[in-house]
Amino acid sequence: MSEKIIEFQDVSISYGTHYAVRNCSFEINENEIFGLLGPNGAGKSTLIRALLGQLDYEGNIFIMGEELTRIPREELNDLIGVIPQEPCFLRDFTVYENLKFAGKLYRLPNIEEIVEDSISKFLLSNYRDKPVKFLSGGYKRLVNIAMSTIHDPHIIVMDEPTVGLDASVRNKIWEIIKKLNKEGKTIILTTHYLDEASLLCDRIAIINNGYVLSYGPPPELIEKYGGNTRIFLNVDKDPSPLLNSIKKIPNIIEVKISGKLIEIECKSKYAAHVIRDVVLVLEAPPHRIKPLHSEVREPTLSDAFMKIVGSEIGL
Ligand SMILES: Nc1ncnc2c1ncn2[C@@H]1O[C@H](COP(=O)(O)OP(=O)(O)OP(=O)(O)O)[C@@H](O)[C@H]1O
Ligand SMILES: [Mg+2]
Repeated sequence: MSEKIIEFQDVSISYGTHYAVRNCSFEINENEIFGLLGPNGAGKSTLIRALLGQLDYEGNIFIMGEELTRIPREELNDLIGVIPQEPCFLRDFTVYENLKFAGKLYRLPNIEEIVEDSISKFLLSNYRDKPVKFLSGGYKRLVNIAMSTIHDPHIIVMDEPTVGLDASVRNKIWEIIKKLNKEGKTIILTTHYLDEASLLCDRIAIINNGYVLSYGPPPELIEKYGGNTRIFLNVDKDPSPLLNSIKKIPNIIEVKISGKLIEIECKSKYAAHVIRDVVLVLEAPPHRIKPLHSEVREPTLSDAFMKIVGSEIGL
C-alpha cells in the first residue's frame, strides 16, 4: 500500500485580504507523480510556495508526518528540490559553472563528479561549456532541473515544467520526469496541460479559484466525470425510420440522428457490442442500410475537467 509523504489539511492562503487558496485538503503518496492541474490564477504556485515554506498558511501541511513549520529550513531544502515557474540561473555562466554553483550551495562533496553525472543525465553534454543565456528555452529548463536536483532530493517540485516549450523538448522533459520517478523520487508538478497531467501523473488535484474541486487518478476522474463514450456512425441512407429500433438496443444511453450520421452514447465497456447490434439492425431487411464509417470517441480528462470546473481550462 502506498504511504503518504505530504498532507495538506484544510489549507487556506491569502495575499493581504485576497484568498488565493481556500480549505484545500489532499495527500501526496511516496514515489508518485502528483499533478496540480488548473487554469491561470487557480492557486497552483501558491500551494507550491506554501509547501516550500515561503508563505504563511492557515490549516496544516505535513511532510513525512512532521508539521512543515517545525521542519528546519536547511532540512527542508535538502529534502525538496524545486524547479520554479520562472527560470533561475546565472545567465552569463556556463552550464557547468551553474551546476557547480548549485552543488556548492548544497555543500556537496565530490562536486565535479556529481556535476558531470548530472550534465549527462539531463542531456546537457553538448552545452556543457556554453553560457546558459545562449541556450534555447527547453535546455534552460533542463539546466534548471539539473540544478534543482543536484543534491539528490527525495521530493521534486516542478512548477509548470513544460510551459511554452515545443513538442520535442516537452517529450524530453516528460522522459526525464518519468526517469526521476523511477529512481524513487516523489514528484509534484503543476500544469495547465491536460495531456501532460493525463500522461504523467499517477494522481491529480483539479484546482480552480483556490479550491481543490476533485482529486484522484486521471482514469478514475475520467470514469466518474468524463461522461459516456460516443459512437459516430456514417451510413449510406437516412436511418431515421430505424431510430426506435436502435433505441431499444441494450446499453444504449442516447441516440441522435442528423442526416446520414448516427450518434450513440453508451458506457465504454459496451461500445463494441453496441456497434455490432446497431449494424445488425441497420443492415436487416427491408431497409438494408450500410455503415460507411465509424468513429468511437472515449471520454478524456478534458471532458472530466469541463464537468468538474464548468468550463474549459483555457490557456
Ligand atoms: N504575490 C502575490 N500577491 C498578490 N496576489 C497574488 C500573488 N501571487 C499570486 N497572487 C494571486 O493569487 C491567485 C493564485 O495565483 P497563483 O500564482 O497561485 O496561480 P497559478 O495557478 O499558479 O496560476 P498560473 O497558471 O498563472 O501560474 C491569483 O489570483 C493571483 O493573482
Ligand atoms: Mg503558477
